[in-house]
Amino acid sequence: MAIISDDNDFQKQDLKQKNPIIKTESIEYDKTFENSIRPKSFDDYIGQSALKETLKISIEAAKMREKPLDHLLFYGPPGLGKTTLAGVIAEQMGAEIKITSAPALERPRDIIGILMSLKGGEILFIDEIHRLNKVAEEILYPAMEDFFLDMTTGKSQTVKTLRVPLPKFTLIGATTKAGELSGPLRDRFGIIYRLQFYSIEELAAVIKRTASILDIKITEEGAKAIARRSRGTPRIANRLVKRVSDFALIKFDGVITDEVANYSLDILNIDEFGLDTTDRALLNLIIEKYDGGPVGIETIAAALSEDVRTLEDVCEPYLLQAGLLQRTPRGRKVSPEGYRHLGKKIENMQQTLF
Ligand code: ADE
Repeated sequence: MAIISDDNDFQKQDLKQKNPIIKTESIEYDKTFENSIRPKSFDDYIGQSALKETLKISIEAAKMREKPLDHLLFYGPPGLGKTTLAGVIAEQMGAEIKITSAPALERPRDIIGILMSLKGGEILFIDEIHRLNKVAEEILYPAMEDFFLDMTTGKSQTVKTLRVPLPKFTLIGATTKAGELSGPLRDRFGIIYRLQFYSIEELAAVIKRTASILDIKITEEGAKAIARRSRGTPRIANRLVKRVSDFALIKFDGVITDEVANYSLDILNIDEFGLDTTDRALLNLIIEKYDGGPVGIETIAAALSEDVRTLEDVCEPYLLQAGLLQRTPRGRKVSPEGYRHLGKKIENMQQTLF
């Protein structure tokens, strides 16, 4: 068969190549901006310190053994730096990286094509890996485990299975929903790690780094003020610095101070907890229409004309982490803290012992 790769063994020289990030699918947010400020080294990558320390050791060990890194799975809410971290790992390994996402691997030929295109030591990053279909997963199992593709040829009685060798590569999977990953796929990752929300100090450091790359003037207090309203998420922090810098330029003297940040974020409807209009609408709806809950997520989504997935992946993780919302087997409930945050009295809140 023509598709056997002669690049079977992990080759040392492949590790030395630099890594242009190849993207195989467009994603909705502003990638150009994100790419321009992406850190390339662990020193520049702020936060996730426990993970960074274990990764540094695994990378050193893999380099010493001249072997690829074990497959890695990163999970956690969007915007915490999963793709960024994959890029840092590739840079530190001196490996190339191919970036794709599960919805782009719908047909068997998509996943086979990308696996066959890999070079020894290369990193394959699959975003939203929980959305891989069964067929794609089954193609991945032998590829991850033994670096083989099991290909079938012929029809019914004459069907033959061929084992096609692949170069040794590292798969980095990212997901916002680790629970939706099948057990066999999860078991094939050597390192599984949940990315944590960032502290105010960490976010302020991300903000100052981004401001300096973009030549935006910002004070320590200005950075902290934006950090406080960034929902523990660097992607949000980075977007807000850009928005606030516009206000600083047009309405003030160009410097982002505490006052400039608070003024701008108030106008942008981002409150002191970082909640935006949709977050507040969600909490308000549960309080006003469902006596504080519990109420099912589908009902909430329909009432807000929002997609269930957006609410689950984007709004809820932070509302849950901030303790404003609770998840119960009977649906979502606003916590007493959530009532307080919206300035509402708790009089009608249902007493549920879920
Ligand atoms: N931009 C996005 N995530 C980042 C991080 N963890 N450190 C520095 N800059 C970032």
